[in-house]
Amino acid sequence: MNPHVVVYKKLPNELLAALRARFRVTYFEAIDETNRAAFLEAMRDADGLLGASVRLDKATLAPATRLKIVSTISVGYDTFDVDDLTERGILLAHTPGVLTETTADTIFALILATARRVVELAEFIKAGRWRHSLDESLYGVDVHSKTLGFLGMGRIGQAVARRARLGFNMTILYHNLQPVPEVETAFGARFLPLDEVLRAADFICVVLPLSPETEKLVGAREFALMRPQAIFINGSRGRIVDEAALIEALQQRKIHGAGLDVFEREPLPADSPLLAMPNVVALPHIGSATHETRLAMARLAVDNLIAGLDGERPRHLANGSVWSNRR
Ligand code: DGY
Repeated sequence: MNPHVVVYKKLPNELLAALRARFRVTYFEAIDETNRAAFLEAMRDADGLLGASVRLDKATLAPATRLKIVSTISVGYDTFDVDDLTERGILLAHTPGVLTETTADTIFALILATARRVVELAEFIKAGRWRHSLDESLYGVDVHSKTLGFLGMGRIGQAVARRARLGFNMTILYHNLQPVPEVETAFGARFLPLDEVLRAADFICVVLPLSPETEKLVGAREFALMRPQAIFINGSRGRIVDEAALIEALQQRKIHGAGLDVFEREPLPADSPLLAMPNVVALPHIGSATHETRLAMARLAVDNLIAGLDGERPRHLANGSVWSNRR
């Protein structure tokens, strides 16, 4: 019998057809309270899973005893227990690369929108409040020629650094597990201890993956080190930041503003104090959300899944040791 694949995210018809031509497919466009039980039941005899944005922890995946591969349509894989999948010999494939430039665009949009008060002032004009020339209470702050400090320096960080250096003449500082010589050569970036980056930067940009090591990495202590004019940007994962400490830092004007695409809890509750702050630009996790990029991610995730079920190495594995141990 053909392998059984459970899809838990809306897929373009052409990709769904490609899967249906090879596998027995159970398809859910999204998972919510109305179909969660059916999804869990379908998973019990699944050989492969394909989807995104659903937490599939150890307990949830335990009944899926036939599982050989999970292919997530995302670069991040913090919704899975990687150690558990690895112990069980289940491949975990993801989609790095194809979303790098789009996500860097989103992060740069947050930098500009927060510094230049784009959202606030667009609302101002739409509300019919532009009656005189602007006074300084509505001025923003410059982005060009300022200092941009990164926490992390992977693919997405490097793509943001390129925009910042070549397009905006910014000085680049970064803290990372290891120095990244390419970014130093190409963009003059300086590798510094975390606290020095926090103290020196005008913009602090989080581009780290979420892991037990990075969870709540930025909290009250770190916000206290930032300059009062600092703008904090997070386009990676909300749980890297202690959101209560961020809210307090903004309320007490310890920092100037924040541009956020990600939150501790998503969707962000409508009563979050962040949504009432004019100096916060909040986006609904749109990092990679363009038609072109989401299609490229879905294609890559489907290719990864097909390779895994055909006994070939998927292009991008989060737990490559599962593959090496099979050889
Ligand atoms: C990713 O690919 O990890 C994006 O954040 C979408 O979840």
